Amino acid sequence: MAKARIAVMVSGGGTNLQALIDAQISGIIKSGEIVLVISNSHTAFALERAKNAGIKTFSITKKECGSQQSFEKALIDELEKENIDLIILAGFLSILNKSFTDRFAKRIINIHPSLIPSFCGEGYYGLKVHEAALHKGVKVTGATVHYVNEIPDGGEIILQKAVYIRKNDTPETLQRRVMEQAEWKILPAAAEICSRKIIENKEI
Ligand code: GRF
Repeated sequence: MAKARIAVMVSGGGTNLQALIDAQISGIIKSGEIVLVISNSHTAFALERAKNAGIKTFSITKKECGSQQSFEKALIDELEKENIDLIILAGFLSILNKSFTDRFAKRIINIHPSLIPSFCGEGYYGLKVHEAALHKGVKVTGATVHYVNEIPDGGEIILQKAVYIRKNDTPETLQRRVMEQAEWKILPAAAEICSRKIIENKEI
């Protein structure tokens, strides 16, 4: 059976991308193949990870496109050129407009480092999410993989995993544990679930 063609979109270090690459090698992801990594920064370390794994990369900044619309057009052109079936946002820090998310409805997934609907939506990214969780004093946090629609962190939930907060946690220690215990596990698992769904529907 043909595999779903996956594009991973990144902005930074790319540890989630690495988890996806490793999951492909170990066979956790078997229904899809990462064929493209897109970055909105030319210097993201994630691009190195992609190159080391022999995956095609494409980077473009909003600034050099001049507008959100032409930025999204450039992304769409690249995704269509590569016949992408599934887009995985793995630490992609740019908001995508409704015209983009509608075009790939149920074909874009995102990892968010909290248990949605807590600590999510506009302004909740990176360490800010973990700062908010610690400030609120919740005892359990975690990560969520969800479909992407026009509402930031608002699409249907696919997988979640809980992580306990420790007494001496800082935003940094919590961020690391949420990644290790939750993000790096549920993102590859969700990638496999969605890839399998896509190829099964193609067969019908
Ligand atoms: C992760 O915490 C992810 O949940 C969030 O951005 C961070 C990306 O980290 N959306 P990395 O680039 O995958 O290391």
